[in-house]
Amino acid sequence: MTEPEFAPADAESRPLWLVVQGDDGPIWPESVDSAFAKASGFTGKPGQICLLPGEDGVAGALFGIGKPASPADRPARERFTLARAAETLPEGAWRLAGVPDSYDLTHGALGWLFAQYRFDRYKKAEPPKARLVCPEGVDREAVLAMAAGEYLARDLINTPASDMGPGDLEAAARDLAARHGASVEVITGEALAEGFPMIHAVGRAAGQGRAPRLIDLRFPGEGPAVTLVGKGVCFDTGGLDIKPSASMLIMKKDMGGAANVLGLTNTLARLGRAGGLRVLVPAVENAVAGDSFRPGDVLTSRKGVTVEVNNTDAEGRLILADALAYAAEESPRLLVSMATLTGAARVALGPDLPPFFCDDEAVADALFRASRDHADPIWRMPFWEPYEAMIEPAIADLDNAPGGGFAGAITAALFLRRFTEGAGAYAHFDIYGWQPSAAPGRPKGGVGQGMRAILHALPTIA
Ligand code: BES
Ligand code: MN
Ligand code: ZN
Repeated sequence: MTEPEFAPADAESRPLWLVVQGDDGPIWPESVDSAFAKASGFTGKPGQICLLPGEDGVAGALFGIGKPASPADRPARERFTLARAAETLPEGAWRLAGVPDSYDLTHGALGWLFAQYRFDRYKKAEPPKARLVCPEGVDREAVLAMAAGEYLARDLINTPASDMGPGDLEAAARDLAARHGASVEVITGEALAEGFPMIHAVGRAAGQGRAPRLIDLRFPGEGPAVTLVGKGVCFDTGGLDIKPSASMLIMKKDMGGAANVLGLTNTLARLGRAGGLRVLVPAVENAVAGDSFRPGDVLTSRKGVTVEVNNTDAEGRLILADALAYAAEESPRLLVSMATLTGAARVALGPDLPPFFCDDEAVADALFRASRDHADPIWRMPFWEPYEAMIEPAIADLDNAPGGGFAGAITAALFLRRFTEGAGAYAHFDIYGWQPSAAPGRPKGGVGQGMRAILHALPTIA
């Protein structure tokens, strides 16, 4: 587990000049030898780097940030371009110089830290070489808190199921709670079977020490009543409707929703903004054994609604349903779920753009704006009423896996919504939680999605 870090404020540092592309080429900083940069082919296009020679080695560098971006494009541009600098600059401390007024350094600094994440639990990793001196005007604590939340989410997802079972997820939640003075209650065994029959049914086939549980974190203090619920399927084999090997390969990431809500919680707590927050994580392993739940079984949920299991691989909505019903019983002002819920979400929008569902226009608006302004892309999809009929099977109230293969992300979201009655507003995020190949600021592996959109929207919506 690594923590994000800036270079010490008093470190000896070299300047990294941010160079904008004007209409007639790069706008050169005054003290920079433009002839050298021109001759080396530097044009200032986004992400381009030109090292500047000095008496003894590299004296500084130019970094292209391209043409001025529109306000809407700026955060993403800033976050992802500067991440590239963090990955390629030579060792040492760097300070930003020649920063244009329109440039939002917070996103740049965040991108830098995002790029320097390492997962070194099983193999020594090269530590980051180029460190950024936290630029003036940037809220250092806020940026570090956001990066720490992202690092935590990535660590939890990247850790394989052999070391990240339901008990390990519980330990991670307890650790977070202990660090920030939250209380933890964990429901297991008989109490789980009685009170949360669907969490128990999905998780009961797991091996020794990996029993299903519901983890319940509460932060003391006054605050808006917000409850976050995260899907904690520590490994998803598909159950008796077993997944083919290619689909099962990355299913250690099926606790990505839990990882994201815990990451977000970490950020909120570090910033002193977790007062009144509640976090629920149903943690299970969807395993194959003699006591696995079966296709065709009818489960009676905590809410009393009956569910016909038409596919044991649609397990996420089952465990979330009981957790959401529990959350809704105390009528939080805002209820949020995050889950690696459907392959259909990824088919619709791809791995980098998670859909979110929300009936409350003001909340949906705030989430979308925050996502755009903080380079944390999400896209709204509808709780489409006419498809309600699709989740109603023959012999029970609800169907966990409607046939036909249509609108899989929407029908999953509609299923969850049936269990949220009582909550003020409800927003559901169907995230992928995984970066399939490395991109600036996002190494291959677990990745946070939607955390910062929620973080920045919270003050307006709850
Ligand atoms: N964890 C998966 C969803 C998933 C698969 C997310 C691949 C990201 C990548 C979930 O439990 C699942 O298997 N869902 C099924 C539902 C279907 C059986 C109705 C799916 O999406 O195929
Ligand atoms: Mn599944
Ligand atoms: Zn799953």
